[in-house]
Amino acid sequence: PQKPFQTKLVLLGEAAVGKSSVVLRFVQNDFQENKEPTIGAAFLTQKCRLEDRLIKFEIWDTAGQERFHSLAPMYYRNAQASAVIYDVTKASSFEKAKSWVKELQRQANPNIVIALVGNKIDLLGRTESVEESTAQGEEDDETATATPEAGASSSLRAVPKDEAEAYAKESGLLFFETSAKTGEGVVEVFTEIAKKIPID
Ligand code: GTP
Ligand code: MG
Repeated sequence: PQKPFQTKLVLLGEAAVGKSSVVLRFVQNDFQENKEPTIGAAFLTQKCRLEDRLIKFEIWDTAGQERFHSLAPMYYRNAQASAVIYDVTKASSFEKAKSWVKELQRQANPNIVIALVGNKIDLLGRTESVEESTAQGEEDDETATATPEAGASSSLRAVPKDEAEAYAKESGLLFFETSAKTGEGVVEVFTEIAKKIPID
């Protein structure tokens, strides 16, 4: 039996981008439609098995509301990893994510593994395929099927994937898009971070 390798991971990002929801999906495989804002921070743990080792994540899920910003250094100070989350439907949350990345690169452990995560891709619904089919200049026949069903919530993408990916690449970050709601991409975030944690 292998002794788990403990890794402190901090989640950062603007309020309501889905930090707590991503952790809830990872730790309990659950989702809550109306999750309450985090006050201060929450602490959760989850193990992640890789081929050659077992990682135990000790996760600090911070509060995104501005009044809690000054607490963040306490949580990222000794962190080996961070997931900086934004909402793909909200441009301001991407700007906030970039400012968290800068703060981490200045103030956190110089070897910290940082993942940039665009969450809520389920909200894009069928809007993206509408854009694609319009771009190809198709007409009327297709427009009917491209309209989102009544009651389906869908929003426009506010942060282009290629732009976020290029920023992540030039800044040396891992990059993912996720949905805490459907679970898409969530396990990958933690597994890929785990693979990057140096064994010492
Ligand atoms: P703070 O704790 O205030 O910093 O917010 P947070 O980043 O932890 O956000 P939280 O997880 O509380 O989610 C905010 C709201 O967004 C909740 O109502 C969630 O149900 C919703 N939400 C989170 N992730 C997703 C997602 O992937 N898709 C959709 N559609 N909604 C989401
Ligand atoms: Mg929260």
